[in-house]
Amino acid sequence: MLTKSLNITRGIVFAFIRNCHNKSSCTDSATIKHELELTRNRKKPPGGSRFLKDKNNIYLFNAWDNVQWDEEQEKAAKEKVEQNSEVTLSEDRLKDLDINADKHWDAFYDIHQNRFFKDRHWLFTEFPELAPDYTAAPERVYPNENDNTTSQIEKPTDQNIGAKRLIFEIGCGVGNTIFPILQYSTDPNLFIYGCDFSSKAIEIMQQNELYDTKRCNVFVLDATCDTWNVPFEENTLDIIVLIFVLSAIDPSKMQTVIKNIHKYLKPGGLVVFRDYGLYDLAQLRFKKGRCISDNFYARGDNTKVYFFTQEEVSKLFKDAGFLEEQNLIDRRLQVNRGKMLTMYRVWIQGKYRKPL
Ligand SMILES: C[S@@+](CC[C@H](N)C(=O)[O-])C[C@H]1O[C@@H](n2cnc3c(N)ncnc32)[C@H](O)[C@@H]1O
Repeated sequence: MLTKSLNITRGIVFAFIRNCHNKSSCTDSATIKHELELTRNRKKPPGGSRFLKDKNNIYLFNAWDNVQWDEEQEKAAKEKVEQNSEVTLSEDRLKDLDINADKHWDAFYDIHQNRFFKDRHWLFTEFPELAPDYTAAPERVYPNENDNTTSQIEKPTDQNIGAKRLIFEIGCGVGNTIFPILQYSTDPNLFIYGCDFSSKAIEIMQQNELYDTKRCNVFVLDATCDTWNVPFEENTLDIIVLIFVLSAIDPSKMQTVIKNIHKYLKPGGLVVFRDYGLYDLAQLRFKKGRCISDNFYARGDNTKVYFFTQEEVSKLFKDAGFLEEQNLIDRRLQVNRGKMLTMYRVWIQGKYRKPL
């Protein structure tokens, strides 16, 4: 197995060197091999990130972390968005997208069942707070040291040993976040709640063999409702998880969701947030005619998606009374080496705490 992967690596290096032959801009083979060794043997921690220092090496790996965008790339993305931002959807279509939002997600899960979203095992690198007892996840090293909040993880004290640790995921879908937490955490005091407004998603999740009612409870809830009908009390939750869900919600309803989150978190409780950022590949790919409002679009299957700036995320939470512990932009370059394609992903990640 090891020999096979070494051979593949060697093949890639030599193919790359062959491709570069006679191109003066290409880095020489010794430098490429050196680069490959450096990043392949990178320690985790520290240096759990792979940075593209020389653009000629782009096809050496499937992904590069924290890529910097130059002015030209930013300008091209802005122009793309200006082109696809004209709103041409009829009033009736806009009404249907709003009123039947849950039905459109039901139809999505009817087709994809639990095969679409991958289990989010990166969760424990980005949000170690979700399973503090799982220490084998690679530690995240942030480009800006102010972004690193690992030190904030609550350690059990004499007072809270044996106390329940409650996590609630909003828009849990079919369990791609909840199941990994249950798998990786062995904390007997952990209990996870999850909700989704798609009754189909909840049904699929409840039928999964990993669904254990002694450790979790998922139910149907539209998080944009003013009043939540939930099986827990106000001021009781330790962590609320928002992973690629706020983007599915109409921007005019986001503040209601955040206010209710604030109500149900305990003082000192934490929100972990990760979602699409402005100019992510998914936004640039939209054709004209899919825009609902600024940076908010309807996909071909009628599910909706918003693309956030860091400032918008910050304002949403701060206006509801949260303290900001992290707000970072994660720019990743994904590479399809077979097709020689590059895909620029942009995600916003945040951690927000309810004051004590
Ligand atoms: C992009 S999926 C993400 C699913 C899951 N968080 C994950 O990361 O795999 C968005 C999910 O949010 C749910 N959703 C959208 N609007 C919602 C709302 N108003 N209330 C509750 N769930 C909602 C959808 O049904 C869908 O399951």
